[in-house]
Amino acid sequence: MSDAPVTEKKKVIFSAIQPSGTITLGNYLGALRNWVSLQDDYHCLYAVADLHAITVRQDPKVFRQNILEAYALLLACGIDPEKSPFFIQSHVHTHAELAWILNCYTQFGELSRMTQFKDKSQKHSDNVNAGLFTYPSLMAADILLYQADMVPVGIDQKQHLELTRNIAERFNGIYGKTFTLPEPYISTTGAKIMSLQDPTKKMSKSDENVNAWVAVLDKPDTIMKKFKRAVTDSEAVVKVGEGKDGINNLIGIMSTVTGKSADAIAAEFEGKGYGDFKTAVGEAVIETLRPIQERFNNYINNKDYLIELYRKGAEFALRLSQRTLDKVMKKVGYLPR
Ligand code: TRP
Repeated sequence: MSDAPVTEKKKVIFSAIQPSGTITLGNYLGALRNWVSLQDDYHCLYAVADLHAITVRQDPKVFRQNILEAYALLLACGIDPEKSPFFIQSHVHTHAELAWILNCYTQFGELSRMTQFKDKSQKHSDNVNAGLFTYPSLMAADILLYQADMVPVGIDQKQHLELTRNIAERFNGIYGKTFTLPEPYISTTGAKIMSLQDPTKKMSKSDENVNAWVAVLDKPDTIMKKFKRAVTDSEAVVKVGEGKDGINNLIGIMSTVTGKSADAIAAEFEGKGYGDFKTAVGEAVIETLRPIQERFNNYINNKDYLIELYRKGAEFALRLSQRTLDKVMKKVGYLPR
């Protein structure tokens, strides 16, 4: 049960993740673990953002599997649909509908300034589609439909959240208070996990070097191999320090998965080589991911149960979001059905 005082209304949190095919250790330690712990103190709603995902071309068969796997993996990580409605974005039609309306309250200039749009249109220069451009208004719809107070996001999504607030303020300014203005939720415990090959960069599955990242579903021996190959330095001292990005990252990972402080870890490995340390980090990560992988295998082999859960999630999300959409449509001047 929650420790939050009963007199205070629980705040609403919304977040979503794209079904990209690979959820990394960085996603888990940096974001998903937080989503799980927020469930006790807030009204959380979570979604698999499959509408966002088609802004880049998807193979239908692979895409279908990725959506289901993302859903199963988030459950395996600890999203509890009894506490937090958990649904698939495309199953809740209000998202696309509100996104259209919000598009008409979002300026071309604002969308043009989004750094993610600029980056992505450079990377996929053969497919700079309108969806990629208006992606932030769909994200705004996701958030505003549930009157979310807070949105846990990484630094890469902060600009989109600021735009969401601007859109909401604009709409409220024209029609009177309709939307809650969402704040970014910056976690105090979420770790920033860096690439194992270039520890000055964030761990990302789009890194072409597969040794740079660990997937939550990587096999234990793959995980161990990747940690053994992790880039370090020539000092051979396990201790946080300047110019020791690789070791700092490994200590950060070790600290996050074991709960031990960086000092305690340094003391434990005093006089030991990097080889021993890397093996220990690999083992700790393997043990952290093992129960998640087991739960994932159970879920993914029980498709009927997954379907039951995501249907329930969508039903709940539809009911809640429809209230906001109805209000919006009425204010804009649409005739009631
Ligand atoms: N755009 C986010 C990402 O790629 C995913 C997302 C979609 C999201 N809708 C959201 C995140 C709403 C927070 C709130 O990471």
